This record gives sequence, structure tokens and C-alpha cells, in this order.
Amino acid sequence: MGESMRVPRRKEDPIYGLQVKIKNDRRKNLLNLSIGVLVDERGELYQFSAVKKAEKRVYEGGGAKEYLPIDGLSSFCSKIQELVLGKDAEAYTAQTVGGTAALHIAGQFIRQFCTKKIFIPEPTWVNHRGSLEAAGLVVATYPYPVSKTGTLHVGAIVKAIRGMPNGSAIVFQASCHNPTGIDPTEQEWRTLLQEAGQRKLTILFDLAYQGLGKSLEEDARAIALSHKAGLEFFIASSCSKNFGLYGERVGALTVVCKGKKRAAVSSQIRHIIRTNYSSPPRHGAEIVSTILNTPSLRKEWESELSTLRALLASLRRKSGFIHSRGLFCMTTLGRRRVEQIRQQEAIYLADDGRINIAALSEKNIPRIRKLAP
Ligand code: LMR
Repeated sequence: MGESMRVPRRKEDPIYGLQVKIKNDRRKNLLNLSIGVLVDERGELYQFSAVKKAEKRVYEGGGAKEYLPIDGLSSFCSKIQELVLGKDAEAYTAQTVGGTAALHIAGQFIRQFCTKKIFIPEPTWVNHRGSLEAAGLVVATYPYPVSKTGTLHVGAIVKAIRGMPNGSAIVFQASCHNPTGIDPTEQEWRTLLQEAGQRKLTILFDLAYQGLGKSLEEDARAIALSHKAGLEFFIASSCSKNFGLYGERVGALTVVCKGKKRAAVSSQIRHIIRTNYSSPPRHGAEIVSTILNTPSLRKEWESELSTLRALLASLRRKSGFIHSRGLFCMTTLGRRRVEQIRQQEAIYLADDGRINIAALSEKNIPRIRKLAP
């Protein structure tokens, strides 16, 4: 680097940057509600028993280390496609490095072949804007206004869609909206999809919490509706939360696309992947594939998911955050109060006041109740 070169320092990522601070905070009563992960009653990362069993099988099976194909493990891709879309869909699925790479790869494809402009909800996951801008897209927002009683003002979204340029792209969070935890109803989805169809929008679904809202099927309802309506669209899905495989980086990009075009689309997706990171990591995909392809393990995994859903529902009831679904809900605590609470109470919320419900427990709920403004 030349001596005259000036590199401006960027702010750290609001979620990952905060985790570094939290690791260095030695207070005994520390409570981390800031990142979306599932934890057990001791506050440790929740580990799925189906995952532990599948991992043992993978290891005992020799733990292959050779490169995967550019678009990943085919036994993983076919099962993930079935999970997000149902059987026999006209679609292509590539394994990706978590759901984030799926978004980024979709973003690059959209920029090259569909449109330069994409709309994301406001508020949304903190990394949507960055990963799509890094794909070369111009990112704009549409409002996602929710009330304290858990209703979404869909009219505002419809109005925004009507104002979008024909043929632009839009990100919809398929379920368990991050950060509000509030989703459109089925009827509202129908309205939104119809409006998006009329504007000829390219839809990119982000499906990061399948199985942690209502059920595996219900959480993908918006996707099923789009499919039934004959739309062509993208799905970025993640196995981070619903398999507890965060650090293994397991995700997938599915493109619903008909006929001959699919071969061309898949060839371009493979080219984008190859030039980004060559091919995805193997271990996590082997675990997910083992679970989804072994009936007894799949049953065990589904039953764990339903236990976790029941746990999340009971934590919601006990804490009073009853109107949301999935991992998150929003408090009305402002940025300054969030900072004060970190310093005075050793409780970490995300900057925007978001709480990870899964990190609550009988023991710490009274501490949270005390914070209500
Ligand atoms: C979150 O929103 O807390 C998670 O999705 C973790 C992340 O990658 O930001």
C-alpha cells in the first residue's frame, strides 16, 4: 500500500462488533440478548441432538475432505429444495456459505441479469443493505411499520410497491421478520405478491428461521403462494438457526425458474460462486443432508424444532412480548437507554432495541421486565 493511501476506518458491524465487546465484559450477571441464536437453560448455545448424532455418522463414515462441486452437495440441495418449496418444483438449488452468501450471490445475479435496484424493508436485518450493496446493487427501502399490538400496516407496503419502478427487485423476509418478529398474514401475503407481480418485481425471499415460527410448512407459506401463482423468484435460506449450525456456514440459494432457462441460470450462478469462493464447505452440509435423508433423524429434528417453538411461545408469554414470532421482538427502548442498560445492568440488547427471545429464561425475565420504559 502506498504511503499516501488513506483508508477510512469503518464502524464495526453492529451485531458481530458487539459480540467482541461482550466477550471482553467479565461481569458475572452479563445477559446477552443481542444476537439471534438459540440457547439452552444454562445460557449455552443450544445443540440439536439430531445434529450431534448426524455429525457422529459423518465422522464415522470417513469424514470426506475432497472439494464439493461448485454448487455443493447434491443430496443436501435436493432436500433443502424440498424443504423450502415442496417436491418436484421447477427450480435450481445451490449450497452456499450460509444464508448470507445466498443473498449476496442472488444479488450479483440480479444485478447482472435483472435490475440494478433492490428494495429492502425498513427496519430489516442489519446486513441486508451491506451484502446487497457489495453485490453492486443500489439499495432502497420500503416501510415495514408494525404496531405495539403486533399488526403490520400492509397498506404502507402496498403503497410503496406501487411507487417502485417496474421490474426492480424486492427482498421479502418469508417469516419471523428480523427485527420485529411480525409477519404478514396469509391474506396479506396474497395482496403483497399480487402487487409485486403487477410491478413485475424480482422477488428475493430471505428464509432464515424456517421451523422456528409456526411450523416448517407455515414458515414457508409465502414461498408456496408465490410458487402456486407461477412466479419466478429467489430464496436465500439458512441452516444456521434451525439446525444450530451457525459456524459451519450452511445455506442455500434456490431459484424458481421454468424450462430451458434453468440451465443457463444455474450456469451463471455457478460462475458467480466459483469466482467468489470456489465451492462451499462440506461438513455442515453433510450433517444436514444426513438428517434430512435419514427418517429417524429427521423425525427427531422436527420434534426438537417443535419443542423449541413451544419454549419460545412460553418465554413470550412470561416476558409479555406476546405479539411476535420467531427469535426476535422489538422493545421501544431508544439507543441511549440501550447503552445505559449495557453499562448499568450488564444486559446487552441490539442497538435498535431488539431482543432475542430465545436468550430469556425464568431466571432473567424479571430483569427484563424491570427495564420496560
Ligand atoms: C442476528 O440478526 O442476530 C443474526 O442473524 C446474526 C447475524 O448474522 O447478524
